[in-house]
Amino acid sequence: MTDTNGRFFPQEIIRKKRDGHRLETAEIEYMVRGLTDRSIGDDQVAAFAMAIYFQGMDMEERLTLTRAMMRSGRVIDWRDADLSRPVIDKHSTGGVGDKVSLILAPLVAACGGAVPMIAGRGLGHTGGTIDKLASIPGYTTRPEMEHFMKVVRHVGCAIVGQSDDLAPADGRFYAIRDVTATVGSIPLITASILAKKLAAGLDALVMDVKVGSGALKAEPAEAEELARSIVTVAEAAGLPTRALLTDMDQVLGHTAGNATEVREAIDFLMGRNVNPRLFDVVIALAAEMLVIGGLADEVTAVHAVKGALASGTAAERFAQMVVALGGPPDLMTNVAAHLPLAPVRRDVIAPRRGFIGGMNVREFGIAVMELGGGRRHAKDIIDPAVGLTNIAGLGMRTSPRAPIATIHAQSEAAAERAEARLLKAIQIWDDPPEILPPVRGRVTAESLKRGE
Ligand code: URA
Repeated sequence: MTDTNGRFFPQEIIRKKRDGHRLETAEIEYMVRGLTDRSIGDDQVAAFAMAIYFQGMDMEERLTLTRAMMRSGRVIDWRDADLSRPVIDKHSTGGVGDKVSLILAPLVAACGGAVPMIAGRGLGHTGGTIDKLASIPGYTTRPEMEHFMKVVRHVGCAIVGQSDDLAPADGRFYAIRDVTATVGSIPLITASILAKKLAAGLDALVMDVKVGSGALKAEPAEAEELARSIVTVAEAAGLPTRALLTDMDQVLGHTAGNATEVREAIDFLMGRNVNPRLFDVVIALAAEMLVIGGLADEVTAVHAVKGALASGTAAERFAQMVVALGGPPDLMTNVAAHLPLAPVRRDVIAPRRGFIGGMNVREFGIAVMELGGGRRHAKDIIDPAVGLTNIAGLGMRTSPRAPIATIHAQSEAAAERAEARLLKAIQIWDDPPEILPPVRGRVTAESLKRGE
């Protein structure tokens, strides 16, 4: 719907979507231009998001939206960087205790990949990789683009924050969705994630779609639909992509927070106190990255990944990345000095003997946020030293000697609030629950073709 000069009316495009019709390419591109140059106001963007939330978008509309948002800013071209390695990344839909990126980027770099990981900040109950890395003294999460590319070339990986010039339309759209209850739309999540990944100039992508009580999509059917949507649209945009569905019905690993999670990631890379479910998720995602990047086949990938962990080369890459981005050279050997934890420490003891039968993971994330380790509002400042350690897994026996978690807080009052929240978030059963494997499913272009 246009005026006599051929210009669109945003409200007519919103109405068309509200009434359940397909949008034309030119209409979607017009909305994205208006998002980027701010000629369309927050009110109309919000209504547009809500119309899509209720009416959805078909795959072609999703692809058009993704491409338009990708083109709203700079698109990195790694051909100039002379990498001679496949450029591969992993992206997670977000969870609690998800420190996988910190381990995976150096691990895949150690196996021959180039991993330019542009990661997000946490908001709400999920943690953000960038907030975790910001707890390392001196680590710059927003280097100049040229420096970022140089670190990827020399070290093989760099984990940095989103810069304003990559997919800026998504930056504004996401902020408006966040305050209008429209984040949960599968077409919008698909376009939001892929616009940024396509702008990062990747050769291939592996998605970690979380499922369970701590995930963006708690229900398996919805998480699977999201995985299919992302793989379908990414492949149509020319970006080879696979997705794993991984469990978020319990915290991943045994820590949640910022410094706490960096400490766990370093321990993991050094082979100390390795959580078996975290190990399985890391190995599965890393193997997918090697295969999709053409660095290994399905048979050799797991062996290569385990070898890079066992030999310490992945840990070395992590240390090199930290130094290249301004962090301390002795981080790996002086963890406690560089990543101190908050002064108040409180073990949370289950009220009776039994087994941990259920866990509301979202509440664990909110407990970290309330301690100061996450944001209620986008401008809040994070306290890196607070968080949880020793988090128990599902099926663990409870007893007065085995805490379900240890709280690290800045005050007794804050620790008490977190304790009350955690105690409400767990269920104690008389019998052990059935435990699902940490990797629950896989979506590939081939599985979609087979109609699975
Ligand atoms: N992560 C993103 O980058 N975008 C979304 O819409 C949801 C999760």
